[in-house]
Amino acid sequence: MALIQDEVRSGMDRGEWKAGEKLPSVRSMAERLGVHRLTVLKAYRLLEEEGLLYSRYKNGYYVRAQVEAKPDTPDGDAASGWAYAAAPGYVNRSRLSDIHSMKVSHPMSEALIDPALLPNRFLSNHVKQVLDLHPMVLSTYSTVLGDPELREALSAFFAEDHGIDVDAGELLITSGSQQAIDLVSRSLVKPGDRVLIERPTYSPAIDVFQQQNIILLPVELTAEGYDLDAVEALMEKEKPRLFYMNPTFHNPTGYTVPAKQRKLLVELAERHDCILVEDDVYHDIYFDQPPPPPLFYYDTEGYVVYIRSFSKYIAPGLRISVLAARPSVMEGIRPLKALSDSGSPLLNQKIFQHYFFSSRMQEHVQKLRTAVRMRKDVMEKALARTGWSWDSPDGGLNLWISLPDEIPADLLLERCVARSVSFVPGSICDPLGKMNARIRLSYSFLSEKRIAEAVEQLIEAAEELRS
Ligand SMILES: Cc1ncc(COP(=O)(O)O)c(C=O)c1O
Repeated sequence: MALIQDEVRSGMDRGEWKAGEKLPSVRSMAERLGVHRLTVLKAYRLLEEEGLLYSRYKNGYYVRAQVEAKPDTPDGDAASGWAYAAAPGYVNRSRLSDIHSMKVSHPMSEALIDPALLPNRFLSNHVKQVLDLHPMVLSTYSTVLGDPELREALSAFFAEDHGIDVDAGELLITSGSQQAIDLVSRSLVKPGDRVLIERPTYSPAIDVFQQQNIILLPVELTAEGYDLDAVEALMEKEKPRLFYMNPTFHNPTGYTVPAKQRKLLVELAERHDCILVEDDVYHDIYFDQPPPPPLFYYDTEGYVVYIRSFSKYIAPGLRISVLAARPSVMEGIRPLKALSDSGSPLLNQKIFQHYFFSSRMQEHVQKLRTAVRMRKDVMEKALARTGWSWDSPDGGLNLWISLPDEIPADLLLERCVARSVSFVPGSICDPLGKMNARIRLSYSFLSEKRIAEAVEQLIEAAEELRS
């Protein structure tokens, strides 16, 4: 095994394999060195644990970029194993999309709401009314920031529902929260900048920042929130430009950062000149109590960029999210949105507005909370006999499960896909690419019956691996 590790290390030193490049496959490395394939696989996995390599599901092993030591800190970051940056010119892939593209009958990987729970029939009649009300809607563009009428309505909504004072000019309608994260990653940070990111986190956010060659510094998230001393120490030492966070019914853990930490975080951000990017996609998907106010509520100095997705629980195909930012920050984001698509489609914005502000919407979301909760209960009941552990979430769409050591998530996924079941392996949610003892199961997409079937297959596949 040492032979293979030396071969990889010296290949990297010689420049044979540069950051972001793929190593020879397990098979060809085994042939090259005349050793067994399993020995190569073990060596690659050890190098991955050391932070030298990272793996892509079904795609092989790649060289991880290392952070260069800063002149004033001899050890720099090299010892921290934090480096997670793409090589320049390297086009990143969404690892979550790779998983979604696997054709299976029981996808527990989809953090989407079952279309059967969405108001499809009502919306199709409603679209006709919207077109009658706005006959020219298809003949024109939206403005770059988004339809002024919708932004005025959302500004009033934030004031009434959250006590947040945000002007329509400080709101940008984006094509889903995904676009908002991408715009932030391209406008507020530049290659080589440092960004704090939760560990674990929403996997496409890692991919987006990595694509910009940004250095990600993980911040552990637990059921109690963050270790604020650790966050402050990172802000002081590393001077990150921003902190990307999903503090409410977090994906994948379901955790919610407590109210008392929220205000303190905003104060820390102000003190250390670090923008908090608050991704709040699950705010309305709670089971008992509404969540605490967004961090944006506490922000008076423009240190929070707030991203709220709405279409996810109404009609995800509309792709309507809103990004709220104070003018100094919006100045950087708006031109990129103009370059990207000149503004989100106007028809989608009109359809969304007419539905979102109707009484029908309130009824829908209340029923939806009950239905999603029932599915969560079914999944938890089906998993109860495994002895695996997880924290039961108060909202959101996912369970974040800890597996016993003898069941690696990547191998379990292979076995599950063969049984037409999928889930998200923890490693793709980890900015360090580890967490192979964790899996994310989404309970919102499959019917109760299919959840029970999928979990049954999952348990059988795990038993197979154990034996
Ligand atoms: C934390 C988080 N952010 C952003 C998104 C993307 O949301 P949208 O569908 O609005 O692009 C998701 C979707 O699952 C998510 O979980």
